[in-house]
Amino acid sequence: MPPYPELRATKLFDVSGLVAVVTGGGTGLGLMMATALENNGAIVYVLGRRLDVLEKAATENSKHGNIIAIQCDITARESLLNAVELIKQQRGYIDLLINNAGVARHTLPQVATETSSDVTLFQQSLWNIGSVEDWATTFTTNVTAVYYTTVAFLELLHLGNARNTKSPGAPSSQVVTVGSVAAFRRDARTLSLSYGLSKSAVTHLAKTLANVLLPWNIRSNVIAPGIYPSEMTASLVNWDNISAEVVPMRRAGSIDDMGGLILFLASRAGAYVNGGVHLTDGGRLGLFASTF
Ligand SMILES: NC(=O)c1ccc[n+]([C@@H]2O[C@H](COP(=O)([O-])OP(=O)(O)OC[C@H]3O[C@@H](n4cnc5c(N)ncnc54)[C@H](OP(=O)(O)O)[C@@H]3O)[C@@H](O)[C@H]2O)c1
Repeated sequence: MPPYPELRATKLFDVSGLVAVVTGGGTGLGLMMATALENNGAIVYVLGRRLDVLEKAATENSKHGNIIAIQCDITARESLLNAVELIKQQRGYIDLLINNAGVARHTLPQVATETSSDVTLFQQSLWNIGSVEDWATTFTTNVTAVYYTTVAFLELLHLGNARNTKSPGAPSSQVVTVGSVAAFRRDARTLSLSYGLSKSAVTHLAKTLANVLLPWNIRSNVIAPGIYPSEMTASLVNWDNISAEVVPMRRAGSIDDMGGLILFLASRAGAYVNGGVHLTDGGRLGLFASTF
């Protein structure tokens, strides 16, 4: 067998020139991924409802001035189409869509820690957890909007593939969806049933899209994070002291952890990956009964 050609990490993990869209890219995990991509040469559109938050994030984290804010509510189809049209006019294609935006509702009281021996009290606490609207908002944002966002950007993803600058073996266009370890938990201490179920649903949606979109050579992968700092998790964890009962590795995830994973998936290094679910949780899921 002939020797392998020289393998250089700088080439293998190169994302320069890549055009990406990150929903919820103005805060938390979305901003970590947008920053990792842009700082390494990608052009990144960040979508969210709060324009001021997006613009501040873009200004503070751009290395090359290529984090671009677009106000967009992913649960409104008209708003999605406006964002697609703007990017179509500016770039004409995208290589990567990151479905990251999400919400978590009625995390308290915790269903499973209800210890009362009175079943009617237990029943009442279950009945009164949040509202029917909370369930609807969670599923609309975390599942339905991921479907419509992916469909809205399909043509631009296809045009990303069609660019003749792509060399053989180069990564084909891709949809990355941010799920959660919550998608796989079936223990009694899970924080929010509606959130976990929405993440199960979107994980299955993304796995199915890996096959549905394959005829167009568009890949679909999932990132399933454990605990990372963000607006959503700010009050959920004692950030100064994360014990082994919370995360066996005794720390939260960082921008290096999330940035490294998205650089892998987006670059030549991850080009053969499709339909995968990538846990990044410091061992947290191992603490619970789960379906992973
Ligand atoms: N942090 C963690 O430990 C963790 C763990 C597992 C999974 N996740 C998942 O990671 C993703 C990012 O969450 P995060 O933790 O980084 O929390 P976050 O800081 O609250 O980020 C959520 C983002 O989604 C955006 N968003 C929400 N609804 C939207 C809508 N209708 N249209 C457009 N954008 C919308 C928000 O921006 P606007 O409010 O401005 O619209 C915000 O930027 C979520 O899917 C979450 O479930 C996070």
